[in-house]
Amino acid sequence: MSDLVKFINFYGRFLVPFSAIGYRLHGLGKAGQHDGLAGKTILVTGATGGIGRAVALLAAEQGARVIAVGRKVDTLAALAAEAGTARGEILATRCDLGLAGETRTLVRHMQEGGHRIDAIVNNVGILNHAYAETAEGVDTMYAVNILNPYIMTEGLMEAGCLADDAVIVNMASGGLYNAPQNLTFMEQAADGYNGFAAYATHKRAQIVLSDHWSAERPPLRAYTMHPGWVETEGVRQSLPRFYKVLRSVLRTPAQGADTALWLIAERPEPEAGALWFDRKPRSAHAYKRTRTPLASDADILDKLKQDANARKETA
Ligand SMILES: NC(=O)c1ccc[n+]([C@@H]2O[C@H](COP(=O)([O-])OP(=O)(O)OC[C@H]3O[C@@H](n4cnc5c(N)ncnc54)[C@H](OP(=O)(O)O)[C@@H]3O)[C@@H](O)[C@H]2O)c1
Repeated sequence: MSDLVKFINFYGRFLVPFSAIGYRLHGLGKAGQHDGLAGKTILVTGATGGIGRAVALLAAEQGARVIAVGRKVDTLAALAAEAGTARGEILATRCDLGLAGETRTLVRHMQEGGHRIDAIVNNVGILNHAYAETAEGVDTMYAVNILNPYIMTEGLMEAGCLADDAVIVNMASGGLYNAPQNLTFMEQAADGYNGFAAYATHKRAQIVLSDHWSAERPPLRAYTMHPGWVETEGVRQSLPRFYKVLRSVLRTPAQGADTALWLIAERPEPEAGALWFDRKPRSAHAYKRTRTPLASDADILDKLKQDANARKETA
């Protein structure tokens, strides 16, 4: 298929629903305003920018207690200052989700602080085009996108920090349409590195985690969602051409945050395999080629469990 045909197919199919036009057409009203957030304790990762920041500020405005996780002290302080007059509060919490050691320390602090968390928004996510390795020697995209969010979420469960009826929202992406469930691109080496395939693979693996947690821990409910195409620094940096072409129709961060806050407030019945988008469960497949998994749910869960255990010994 020529690049032009691919371009037309891609934009023809997704431009309207995923842009701000789609948000309006879906009739969702003022973004992120939902009864039922007041009084909840919500942990948000990647809270210093983009969608995560909007989740944190909107939740705090509506009376939630937000544990805002970011890796930079100055942007965390700015976030807390911005929420100064909110009905709720923001507890700025430093942690580099790229590092298992820091992630485990975060869990320990949550346990020692006696936090009881009603919702986790696993929002942090990156798309690198070149291989990078963490200080712990792990493929950075794998560490940030899926391994350490898994370590954090499982750790908080084991530490008794989650309410029994907690909500977990995994922030995925329509980018998952590009890969079937697989292990090939889950954790890669520098040679032949494919960032797009990694991103799609990690986002699709989030569905496995949501289904697993919902099935294993009722009344806890876990969801995987797509925020739409949102104007953020992350998009500007990792997809500069896409950003340039679409900037005028990208969603606001609040619109991107809307479904996460709605899921927390409403706790709809989870649906196995679903990708939630604009407050509805949708198919996680746009193309036939991704419907046959190349790795089973058990394969994905085993890898994460094994790698989490290996990091326990070295963290
Ligand atoms: N924007 C979109 O159109 C779009 C579409 C589909 C899916 N998504 C998903 O939505 C989520 C948020 O995207 P976004 O566009 O809002 O991203 P963003 O603009 O890059 O913001 C992400 C935030 O995460 C923080 N962060 C990055 N690495 C971190 C780490 N190792 N530890 C702790 N915090 C870290 C960043 O802070 P630093 O300043 O420290 O880097 C930044 O504040 C991602 O999972 C993304 O895949 C976004």
